[in-house]
Amino acid sequence: KKMRKKIVAGNWKMNMNLQDGVALAKEINETLKADKPNCGVIICTPFIHLASVAQVLDQNVVALGAENCADKEKGAYTGEVSAEMVKSTGAQYVILGHSERRQYYHETAEILKDKVQLALKNGLKVIFCCGETLEEREANKQNEVVKAELDGSVFNLSAEEWKNIVLAYEPIWAIGTGKTATADQAEEMLAYIRSIVADKYGKEAADDTTILYGGSCKPGNAPELFAKPDIDGGLIGGASLKAADFKGIIDAWK
Ligand code: G3P
Repeated sequence: KKMRKKIVAGNWKMNMNLQDGVALAKEINETLKADKPNCGVIICTPFIHLASVAQVLDQNVVALGAENCADKEKGAYTGEVSAEMVKSTGAQYVILGHSERRQYYHETAEILKDKVQLALKNGLKVIFCCGETLEEREANKQNEVVKAELDGSVFNLSAEEWKNIVLAYEPIWAIGTGKTATADQAEEMLAYIRSIVADKYGKEAADDTTILYGGSCKPGNAPELFAKPDIDGGLIGGASLKAADFKGIIDAWK
């Protein structure tokens, strides 16, 4: 079966105050220490949670990540949080390129390229997201859209840098809508993504690249999605906010 690293990652988005977030992280950590997962598990939290959540996680079991970082190194950028700051909390990962950041905060391919560079330079691994809108899918443009997103922000990386990239395909029409891509639709896209990674970095690197599916992934549909040959796990929004649901998805690897 699939030898590459399998991952289930939670993306809390803008949910949970500090106390509730620390409590949830603790619960996830305890649950998974008691019943070891068969995959890598990551929780990505708002910036303000990172330092406190780092204290309650055993990162050999549950690794910590941020949901964003700045496209500048340091200095007079009021309100921004740099990759170096993220790293200093103990976080190991950062999500970049999420469609919500592209859509609502106007993050372009160019900006994301800078963020990816800074994240890698500061020793963070990047979960890089891509995905098309419903309109683009209906026009059958999903492959070119996804390719352009990767071309514009991560396909400039060296082979060495590429080892620190996890990809996540999230069709925008499936995020928070309850509308999952079918396992076949997700597999088709992930196989395509793996093929363009192979064109760029070679077959061996492509075979080693972890590619996640995201968009209304739940305990009920995770087993069918994860059974597909190119789907190496999930990037989970809503269902990562309850320990039992998140664990249910992680258990799909058992
Ligand atoms: O990054 C995860 C994501 O956008 C999916 O969200 O709530 O549909 O699982 P959700």
